[in-house]
Amino acid sequence: MGKDVIVACDFSSAEKTYEFLDLFTDRKPFVKIGMELFYSEGPGIVREIKKRGHRIFLDLKLHDIPNTVKKAMAVLSGLDVDICNLHAGGTIAMMKAALEGLTREDGTRPLLIAVTQLTSTDQQSMENDLLIKEPIDKVVMHYAENAKKAGLDGVVCSPLEAKKVHDLCGSGFLTVTPGVRFADGDIGDQKRVTTPARAKEIGSDYIVVGRPITASDDPVKAYLRCVEEFVD
Ligand code: C5P
Repeated sequence: MGKDVIVACDFSSAEKTYEFLDLFTDRKPFVKIGMELFYSEGPGIVREIKKRGHRIFLDLKLHDIPNTVKKAMAVLSGLDVDICNLHAGGTIAMMKAALEGLTREDGTRPLLIAVTQLTSTDQQSMENDLLIKEPIDKVVMHYAENAKKAGLDGVVCSPLEAKKVHDLCGSGFLTVTPGVRFADGDIGDQKRVTTPARAKEIGSDYIVVGRPITASDDPVKAYLRCVEEFVD
């Protein structure tokens, strides 16, 4: 899969999601379905969006004992999504088990990527709450290396970290990067942001874009602007 824009469908209901997706008549965006939508609508929404011709990143960030994650991943694999994810903090054993669960009988499987440290975790909360005393950048890179060792396909990270991850884990190791804003757009609650064009220069493989598209007056135009800056 080449570079692409993934639209974060952070809607609370199927109705709102379909209303949004119906706007796209030509190019069907790659979409991200998160916990809110999945927990409110169940797996049916994934099947329906797939049926409509979209590729899907199912962002459920699994984190449990290896056996439980393995079995849960086997269920998600049956939904035929394109990308799944988990927390690298669940250990290499958990990530390996997840890959096993995800792999179908014919050897095919969705891509599997890891969340390193959430961007909502800062140095202080990591030290005080998690008792991890190393610098957060080092922790993020160590978790990325663990994901690579476990055989995963990539990580979710800031576009600003994409080059460092590629230098450490190889250019084929995917960087899927939220925190993207247009140069003339609102930042909202994101702290470290980059434009689609800059994310392309740094080497992101996929940018995940939510509100700059979903909250735009013209979502299709905003999506195509992202594609033009990042992909074309
Ligand atoms: O609306 P916005 O473009 O900020 O949406 C970004 C999406 O990426 C949201 O679904 C958010 O939960 C997700 N995300 C993020 N930062 C992370 C991991 C995920 O913004 N570190």
